[in-house]
Amino acid sequence: MAIGEYKPGLEGVPATQSNISYVDGKAGLLEYRGIRIEDLCEHSNFLETSYLLIFGELPKHQELEKFEHSINHRRRIKYRIRDMLKCFPDDAHPMDVIQACVCALGMFYPLRDLRDIEYIYGATIRLIAKIPTIIAAFHMMRQGNDPVPPRDDLSYAANFLYMLNEIEPDPLAAQIFDVCLTLHAEHTVNASTFCALVTASTLNDPYVVLAAAVGTLGGPLHGGANEKVMLMLEEIGSVKNVKSYLEAKISKKEKVPGFGHRIYKVKDPRATILQKLVDQLFEQSGHDPYYDIALELERQAMDVFAEKGIFANVDFYSGLVYKKLNIPVDLFTPVFAIARVPGWLAHWKEQMADNRLFRPTQVYTGLHDVEYTPISDR
Ligand code: CMC
Repeated sequence: MAIGEYKPGLEGVPATQSNISYVDGKAGLLEYRGIRIEDLCEHSNFLETSYLLIFGELPKHQELEKFEHSINHRRRIKYRIRDMLKCFPDDAHPMDVIQACVCALGMFYPLRDLRDIEYIYGATIRLIAKIPTIIAAFHMMRQGNDPVPPRDDLSYAANFLYMLNEIEPDPLAAQIFDVCLTLHAEHTVNASTFCALVTASTLNDPYVVLAAAVGTLGGPLHGGANEKVMLMLEEIGSVKNVKSYLEAKISKKEKVPGFGHRIYKVKDPRATILQKLVDQLFEQSGHDPYYDIALELERQAMDVFAEKGIFANVDFYSGLVYKKLNIPVDLFTPVFAIARVPGWLAHWKEQMADNRLFRPTQVYTGLHDVEYTPISDR
């Protein structure tokens, strides 16, 4: 690439050096710190994986115990955050709620020193611990109910599902949800992570860094696609409508949510793992007709899209899992945000370790030496 050549969307332009995760979009490979995502989903869990991402290696027994204990005991939120939640409209999008609350959280723990290890550890723990509580509390309040306090004795995944419904989830549901979180925890320099890096590079505090990332994740081309997929399956309504729906989308040149990826030119490995989870979940707790629609849509979409390198991405099957776990559709993207916190934090730490302010250049396409026209002459 010639110096100064403009690449829309910075496609193929390295924005940083990183050893956190790796994607091979042709082979369909995803690794966190060199470990394949399939192995982490099978053998690890979300908090252990979070430690791996943030601190660079798998924790020893005592390190994991301390990390889990710190998170489990910081799940509660301050009453002022709860008061703030009460003031939001019931129909506010929960992604906007998270963004506002994460910023507010930072006000209670003002920036001391970005080299202060204790401050960094505290912020890391709080951000992982409290975002699920914020989302669940808002969900309860918008239905006119008191928030369900977190339970320290439940795992990270089980506790979130518990706070949403006040029912302890069965172990398979909690385990499957934990795998979903692990799957979404990190994914190289995507839009929200890039946004986190840019904000981090200004030396603002980690709460603001994460709030910026949350705002970027919410868009329908990024994390917001999982919500759009579920709405699309509901709109299609029946397997027999798949063909006409797809034809209409193609003829209107509209994107089909849940398909395509800037990096993957084969099926997203996370979609393959999620599909197995859907099978497992439905085997235990009954089939969902939307799954048949999704399968048929993927089959027909492949006839048209495969030759262009467009395949199902992570967002295509995640919604079906979340729906079965009783998670409302507008919380699908917030769940993505909960999961991505360790990835954002890992990149924030990496940026802090070797920071240089992001300040790209531009290709100016405007005019020069334009004469000022007085308002009376315009
Ligand atoms: N449906 C139909 N056509 C598509 C799709 C799609 N989902 N995705 C890409 N294309 C076509 C696009 O129309 C274009 O065709 P042509 O060359 O004929 O004009 C070509 O593929 C390239 O598309 P692009 O938008 O320039 O490619 P990109 O690298 O910017 O796309 C993407 C990446 C994720 C923005 C895009 O695939 C998309 O909008 N997908 C739907 C939204 C979605 O599922 N997003 C979640 C992405 S994975 C999770 C995450 O990152 O958060």
